[in-house]
Amino acid sequence: MEVIIIPDYQELSRRTARMIADQIHLKPGSVLGLATGSTPLGAYQELVRLHREEGLDFSKVVTFNLDEYLGLSPRHPGSYNHFMWENIFKHVNISPPNVYLPEGTVDDPEAHCSWYEAQIAKHGGIDLQLLGIGSNGHIAFNEPGSSLASRTRLKTLDQRTIKDNARFFDDAEEVPRSAITMGVGTILEARRILLIASGEAKAASCADFIEGPVSTLVTASALQLHADVVVLLDEEAAAKLERKEYYNWIRDHKSEVQKHPGA
Ligand code: PGA
Repeated sequence: MEVIIIPDYQELSRRTARMIADQIHLKPGSVLGLATGSTPLGAYQELVRLHREEGLDFSKVVTFNLDEYLGLSPRHPGSYNHFMWENIFKHVNISPPNVYLPEGTVDDPEAHCSWYEAQIAKHGGIDLQLLGIGSNGHIAFNEPGSSLASRTRLKTLDQRTIKDNARFFDDAEEVPRSAITMGVGTILEARRILLIASGEAKAASCADFIEGPVSTLVTASALQLHADVVVLLDEEAAAKLERKEYYNWIRDHKSEVQKHPGA
């Protein structure tokens, strides 16, 4: 796991967008796994800028989102479908059939979950998966206690998640109580994973998942089992890391470290 501490949210957003843009340049038909929430917003704005000002081409890109609230239609302002179209998709040249999100209002959610997994496989798997992290250590809606082998499925939301996400709704009572989410096992199959975290509310969960034991109680800790994970954190989110000096030394001596691949 490569842990990179970045001074502030703006720079973190620029670095995140640059990694996604590099992936698209490398493979114009990349399959991206995308996330919602406050954390990726800055990166999405930067990707829109790269599209407008530098011609970043999304025409062949395929996207799979991590999750969607159960019971919300794609047009509901609190839905993740709405979030993605408003914050990125409608501002770039992505082809609508290439956009995949779980649907919160399907008649048979379980069959839909299997279909979603099959679509990811049909597109050859996810090249780069972007993740945020919950204050309870979740990735996507894999709440504490989720199996680390889980696949796309229905999940009941944790009380803390409902509280954290109430800001996107008029009232906490309106936050749906369950969601369709990619599983931890689904996420671990992405070829490369980029997790981003910002702010002091994430400091404890970041220390837990990066430096604590692998545990179903902190589902992000499963990323320790993946061979290609980059974690970008701002100073506030990194505040509780014990090995901060080590991560910063590597960041500041990159050219030396790269001369000694065993380092
Ligand atoms: P946030 O959500 O980016 O809005 O903090 C992250 C998450 O819950 O995964």
